[in-house]
Amino acid sequence: MPYMSQKLLAATASIIISMSINAHAQQAADAVAPEIASAYDAKSQGLVVKSKNWMISAANPLAVQAGAKILAAGGSAADAMVATQTVLGLVEPQSSGLGGGAFLVWYDAASGKLTTIDGRETAPMNVTPKLFQDENGEPLKFFDAVVGGLSVGTPGTPALMAKAHELWGKTNWDGLFADGIALADEGFIVSPRLATLVANDAERLSRFKPTADYFLPGGTPIAAGDTLKNAAYGETLRQIALDGVASFYTGATAEGIVDTVQNAAGNPGVLEMQDLAVYQVKLRDAVCAQYREHDVCGMGPPSSGALTVGQILGMLNNYDLANLGVENPESWRLIGDASRLAFADRGRYMADSDYVPMPTKGLVDPAYLAERAKLLVGPNALEKASSGTPTFDHAMIYANDESIELPSTSHISIVDADGNALSMTTTIENGFGSRLMAPGGFLLNNELTDFSFRSHRDGVAIANRVEPGKRPRSSMSPTIVLKDGKPVLVVGSPGGSRIIGYVAKTIIGYMDWGLNIQSAINLPHLVNRFGTYDVEDGTTAMTFEAPLQAFGFKTNARSLTSGIHAIAITSDGLEGGADPRREGIAIGE
Ligand code: GLY
Repeated sequence: MPYMSQKLLAATASIIISMSINAHAQQAADAVAPEIASAYDAKSQGLVVKSKNWMISAANPLAVQAGAKILAAGGSAADAMVATQTVLGLVEPQSSGLGGGAFLVWYDAASGKLTTIDGRETAPMNVTPKLFQDENGEPLKFFDAVVGGLSVGTPGTPALMAKAHELWGKTNWDGLFADGIALADEGFIVSPRLATLVANDAERLSRFKPTADYFLPGGTPIAAGDTLKNAAYGETLRQIALDGVASFYTGATAEGIVDTVQNAAGNPGVLEMQDLAVYQVKLRDAVCAQYREHDVCGMGPPSSGALTVGQILGMLNNYDLANLGVENPESWRLIGDASRLAFADRGRYMADSDYVPMPTKGLVDPAYLAERAKLLVGPNALEKASSGTPTFDHAMIYANDESIELPSTSHISIVDADGNALSMTTTIENGFGSRLMAPGGFLLNNELTDFSFRSHRDGVAIANRVEPGKRPRSSMSPTIVLKDGKPVLVVGSPGGSRIIGYVAKTIIGYMDWGLNIQSAINLPHLVNRFGTYDVEDGTTAMTFEAPLQAFGFKTNARSLTSGIHAIAITSDGLEGGADPRREGIAIGE
């Protein structure tokens, strides 16, 4: 079967695991609302959800419904985000929540301006660059660092929610928590994805009593279809609703977080009350790259997302992917090697620019990317992808990074009735984060393991090394694409450093290959970061394995569980899409 036939969309949507998850999730959703059931139908068939006024797409139907209620009542995208995030933290606790961090990109319809909020976790003031090294200076094993208190950074998501509401909210703050509180108090139906992930991670979750008591009651993993209550989370939300997020950063909730981190059995951390008390989100300029007469805009440092997506697209701007086509292996050779070159620059230069000088503008300068693009002239895969020399007025050179990032995280896309657009990627890092559950009923992140475990290589400093107060480099790529200054696409995904490839592919599918946004999401993944081409197992992407190997790529067939949530803004209205690989949906009105 050709890679991109009409049948492909159905074939893609029928990835067996996703379909079984969605079939179960659909049963739960059917009980909730008919529009949710029709949203599942749409995504499995590669059809967009259409609306005229507003649209929301996120990773769980209960969370989407919480946001949709706010939008239907005239709330802004920022209001809807708060309602959606607080429900996601309950029903999809493995991915994001109050104990984590997030990046938000906002298009303001009234002013036509883009703003980003950096709600990234920060390293405690008591860390050193050797945080994740043993007594011989060797990096710890990844999960030895992740599980426990050492990896926990100061959470940023509550402060981000408050700042977004302060800047752009239309609805009373306390009204945004109603669904989260009700679902926490009365219980929610455990989804198949949550149940599967708990069962797979049972040993690590069992190491800490509060975590085990919640996810493994009586020693048995919660099962799909169970009703799960979280009274502590309901109480935390009630306090935040009444008193704002100060209660989170300075009150009993903060004390509970610090106590949990400092007393984590076998792996205590160094977070203190002072770290929480001084936490601030940062408003930052969006980073934009030019692509096919559009501006692809997103989150700059400390995220590598917008820069790396922008580099990939900026190099490919010099090649005619539309003419080559989606079924042509040459398209994927170009995409794969553009990604490798972008990841080489990412590993060398990208980190928290408040701590290390970064060539932010130089990395997405079209002239620099046109030069880099010349390396892609065929016919074979690059033997080696090395970092380039973007315009950089600082003499310091960094050593190549050594960070490990595994897939996790969640993404929310919203367009409201006023035309504001919100793209937010939100995370506690690894699935279930540090595995530590705070007394407030939420999991704590392990975001600090997004730093490089090594601080130096051959005596040369690594940009993304651990430092007190610093924000670990991220791959999260919440994106808004503009045409003539107006948004045309809102998109993002979870997936660790593969997020970058998922987002770039979706933009290429939509803009170059003329796919509707749901079909662009469904398009099977081919992702290259460091040389090996990951090919989405069980899909028609597998037909590319042999041609890619003939170019000289190593290939690796594996599941690639993106969670892309996107909204296209067209002359006919809004078109929403949600990833069939996870349980989310888009709904609009
Ligand atoms: N921890 C996922 C990311 O920030 O990229």
